[in-house]
Amino acid sequence: MLIMDFKAQIQMGIPTELPPKKERSSAVSHAPNRKQILSKEEKQLAIRNALRYFPADWHSVLAPEFAEELQTYGRIYMYRFQPSYDMHARAISDYPAQTSHAAAIMLMIQNNLDPAVAQHPQELITYGGNGAVFQNWAQYLLTMQYLSEMTNEQTLHIYSGHPMGLFPSSKEAPRVVVTNGMMIPNYSKQDDWEKYNALGVTQYGQMTAGSYMYIGPQGIVHGTAITVMNAFRKVLKSDENPNGKIFLTAGLGGMSGAQPKAGNIAGCITICAEVNPLAAKKRHEQGWVDELIDDIVILIARTKEAKSKNEVVSLAFIGNVVTVWEEFYKENLFIHLGSDQTSLHNPWAGGYYPVGLTFEESNELMNQDPDAFKIKVQDSLRRHADAINQHTARGTYFFDYGNAFLLEASRSGADVMAENKIDFKYPSYVQDILGPMCFDYGFGPFRWVCSSGKIEDLQKTDAIALRVLKEIKKEAPPEIQQQLSDNIKWIAEAEQNRLVVGSKARILYADAEGRAKIALAFNEAIENGELSAPVILGRDHHDVSGTDSPYRETSNIYDGSKFTADMAIHNVIGDSFRGATWVSIHNGGGVGWGEVTNGGFGMVLDGSKDAERKLKNMLFYDVNNGISRRSWARNPEAMLAIKREMERTENLKVTFPTLVEDNILENLF
Ligand SMILES: NC(=O)c1ccc[n+]([C@@H]2O[C@H](COP(=O)([O-])OP(=O)(O)OC[C@H]3O[C@@H](n4cnc5c(N)ncnc54)[C@H](O)[C@@H]3O)[C@@H](O)[C@H]2O)c1
Repeated sequence: MLIMDFKAQIQMGIPTELPPKKERSSAVSHAPNRKQILSKEEKQLAIRNALRYFPADWHSVLAPEFAEELQTYGRIYMYRFQPSYDMHARAISDYPAQTSHAAAIMLMIQNNLDPAVAQHPQELITYGGNGAVFQNWAQYLLTMQYLSEMTNEQTLHIYSGHPMGLFPSSKEAPRVVVTNGMMIPNYSKQDDWEKYNALGVTQYGQMTAGSYMYIGPQGIVHGTAITVMNAFRKVLKSDENPNGKIFLTAGLGGMSGAQPKAGNIAGCITICAEVNPLAAKKRHEQGWVDELIDDIVILIARTKEAKSKNEVVSLAFIGNVVTVWEEFYKENLFIHLGSDQTSLHNPWAGGYYPVGLTFEESNELMNQDPDAFKIKVQDSLRRHADAINQHTARGTYFFDYGNAFLLEASRSGADVMAENKIDFKYPSYVQDILGPMCFDYGFGPFRWVCSSGKIEDLQKTDAIALRVLKEIKKEAPPEIQQQLSDNIKWIAEAEQNRLVVGSKARILYADAEGRAKIALAFNEAIENGELSAPVILGRDHHDVSGTDSPYRETSNIYDGSKFTADMAIHNVIGDSFRGATWVSIHNGGGVGWGEVTNGGFGMVLDGSKDAERKLKNMLFYDVNNGISRRSWARNPEAMLAIKREMERTENLKVTFPTLVEDNILENLF
C-alpha cells in the first residue's frame, strides 16, 4: 500500500483501496461490550446501514467482519478503518483546509479522539463510558474529508456522528451544525439508545464529546475545585481550613478524574475510589492523583496518618467505593465532604460497578446476563446509600455530583428520599453551590484552545485573562467579588497546576462580561501578532444557558419549568445566527439519555473585525439567555444579574417577574 502523508490521508476520506484488517490494541482502554439487543432482522439492517459507506465490491469482505464486531461488541466500530497516523491535535496550519475555521474544527475532533485524552479511543468514546464523537471510523474519515474541502459558503450538517453533507450557506452561518441523539420524545428510554445506536442511526454525544469541545479533565477541574472549595466554606467555621479534612468520592474517569486535583487545590485529603485499575493508573501517571493504594487496610492507615499530619494529599483506592464508605464508618473516620462521580447516567452498561464483584466479573455479567447485572447494581446502590446515611448521621455533608446517583439510588429503592417523598434527602451540587453561587450570575465554564499548539500562546492568553479579570473586579458589585477572586486565583495558578492534557487549552469560569472582554482581548492580540494563531472559544454544556437538566444544571429552577427544554433549544438556535463557528444540541449528556437536553458552541477568533462583531453578539446571548430564564424563575441572584445587565446594555429588554406574597395564596384552594 502506498504510504500517504497526513494531509493526503485526510483529503482522501474513505480510502480508495481496502485497508488491511486491524486488531484492537491492548494498550488502551475499551468500551464495555454492549448488550445484544437487536433481532436477526435488525442485525441485518445494522450491517446494511454500515455497508452503505463503502463500495459494493468490498461488501462480501466487510459484511462478516462487521457482523463479528456486532456479535462481539454489540456495535460496529469499523476498526479496520482507523487511520494509520497518530491521533492528536496538531497545529492549525498542519490541517489541509480551505478555511481556518474548518481546520480548527478538525483540530478539536482529533483532540477528542487522542488516546491521551479519550477514555476508549478506538471506540471513538471520549468520556463518560458512552460519550461518542462518532459511531464508527467511516463517519470520522468522511467528516474530516468534508472539513478539508469546505469553504466559508458551506455548512456541514452532522446527524449523531453521521456527516449528512455540505450544504450551501453563507459566511455568517455556522460551518458545522451537530445534533446528537435527538429522538422523538417517546423513544428516549435507555434501551432505545442501545437499539438505535446498535443500528447505527444515533449516538450518545455526552456534552463535549460529540460537540468536539472536550479538553481533558482540566475542563472540569476548575468547576470541581470551585464546588469543593465552596462546599468546605459551607461546612467549616470561618477560622477553619480544609487541611487534614476528608473529601470521599469515586471515579477516576474522564471527568471524575479531576476530583483529586480539585481536592489538592482546595487543600484537603481526597480519597477517590476507582474500580478500573487502568483508569486509576492513567490518572496517576498524568499527575492527577498523588498515591495509588489497592488495599483497604493500607488506605485506612494512610488516611489516619494524613489526618494526623494535616496533609493536603489525594489517595486513589483501586477498588469499590462502597467498601471505603463502609470500612471508614467502622474505623470512625470522620468524612467532612462526601460525593460520588461514578457514571450513573449509564447504570447498566459499565457506568457503575456493584460491590461484591470484581471489575472483570462485572464486565462479564453485564454482557452475559444484563438482568442479573442490573439486580447487582441495585443491591449495591442500596448498600452504598445506607453507608452514606450512616456517615451523614454523624455530620458528613453529602452532595450529589450530577451523576444521577440519587436518581438511580431512589429508583433502586435506596433510602435517599426526603420526608415529603418528592425531594431527595441530599442536595445536588447545583442546588446548593453552583446554581446560586455561579450560574445565576452568569459564571460558567468558558474555555479556549490555542490553535498554534504552542505553550507560549497559552501563557499569553492566561496573562491576558488575568489582566482582564482584575480590571473587572475593581468595578464589580459585592455579590460577585468572591467568584471573581476564586477565578483570578485559578487563572493565576493554572499553569503551575499542570492541567494541560492534549491541546493547549484553558478553562476559566467567567460571566458574560468576563467572557466577552477576555475574548475581545484575545482577538486584538491575534490581530496585532501577540498571539501567533487563532484561538478557539467554547464552553462546557454544563453552564448557565445551554442545558436543561432537571436534576443538574437546572435543578435550582423552582417554578416548575425544570422539565422543559426551551432554554437549551433557544440557545443553540440563538448562538447559530449570532456568529458561532459550530453549534451542537444533544439528548443526554451527563445525567443520561432522555434526562437532559444540552447544547454548546465553538467559535474561532482569527483577529478579524467579523470575529469581533460575532463574539460580542454571540457571547452576550449565550450567557444572558440563561440568566433571563433563571430570573423569570424568580432566582434572586439572576434577577440581580439581569437587572444590572439591562442597565448597561442598550437593546436588552427582558420580561421581569413580579413576586407574590405568600398570604395571597394561602386560602385559595
Ligand atoms: N465532574 C463534574 O463536574 C461533573 C458534573 C456533572 C456530572 N458529572 C458526572 O459524573 C459522572 C462521571 O463522569 P466521568 O466522565 O468521570 O465518567 P467515567 O465513566 O469516565 O468515570 C467514572 C468512573 O467511575 C468508576 N466506577 C464505577 N463504579 C464504581 C464504583 N462502584 N466504585 C469505584 N469506581 C467506580 C468507573 O470505573 C469509571 O472509571 C458522570 O455521570 C458525569 O455526568 C460530573
